[in-house]
Amino acid sequence: MSKISVIGAGNVGASCAEYIAIKNFAEEVVLLDIKENFAEGKAMDLMQTAALNGFDTRIIGSTNDYSKTQGSDVVVITSGIPRKPGMTREELIGINAGIVKSVMENCLQHSPEAIFVIVSNPMDTMTYLAKSNAGLPKNRIIGMGGALDSARFRYFLSQSLDCPMSDVEGMVIGGHGDKTMIPLTRLASYKGVPVSEFLSEEKLAKIKASTMVGGATLTGMLGTSAWYAPGAAVSTLVQSIVCDQKKMMPCCVELNGEYGESDICIGVPVVLGKSGWEKIVNLDLNDSEKAEFKASADAVRAMNSSL
Ligand code: LAC
Repeated sequence: MSKISVIGAGNVGASCAEYIAIKNFAEEVVLLDIKENFAEGKAMDLMQTAALNGFDTRIIGSTNDYSKTQGSDVVVITSGIPRKPGMTREELIGINAGIVKSVMENCLQHSPEAIFVIVSNPMDTMTYLAKSNAGLPKNRIIGMGGALDSARFRYFLSQSLDCPMSDVEGMVIGGHGDKTMIPLTRLASYKGVPVSEFLSEEKLAKIKASTMVGGATLTGMLGTSAWYAPGAAVSTLVQSIVCDQKKMMPCCVELNGEYGESDICIGVPVVLGKSGWEKIVNLDLNDSEKAEFKASADAVRAMNSSL
């Protein structure tokens, strides 16, 4: 059993805590926020679902007391401001960079051995910042974007195919931005059969476009960033780590020559287990996918340079 800390008890952080608890694989979840009593309130509300939902995970709230996070196996960082309608994730960089940096420092003091999952936006740049500042082995810093974007991709595919979600596979690599995501339509499958056998090129282009603005569409509808799917994606990723499930999912990790890129954190398929991301899965991209990946990496790198 394990201890997970979730920093930031806003919609995304609370949803992460809820899904981690409901999946019942962790002994303790610590929810921390700077707002007085807020995380304690969320933790109490969530704990009062335990008798109804049948989980044993203990959820503890803390107002900025990082000693409560002591000895965490995994720390999830959701701190920072979310998007408002019309905003890009990139516009959050100035405020969120300072927040993520200080949160990382506080967490490292109490959990020097933890694996860090970065959710704050712009996620690729926040992951790069965390990696550059923390001096941790690269396998212990993981940005959550591709797992969420892939779930959204599968949703749009299943809607078009009119089939259950579990019959569809698909991955989104590249950056976690409206223009940097790369939904891999060529490799997506319906029960192992390429989706291009069932869906026209136009339909696939539409699915790809809807996936790329998946987060922005919801921000427009909700007035703030989405939280259910982001929380569920984090919980899936954290479970694969602490239960050593070795699941493959696209995550934002540091590249050292893989996919032709270096000195960058960006989404590629990785295997997640006890030591964090354990290996990068090298996909045989065709020329146009390679060009898309290069353009995505260039955009992420340009954003990193404004840190
Ligand atoms: C989204 C935010 C979490 O894509 O980046 O909904």
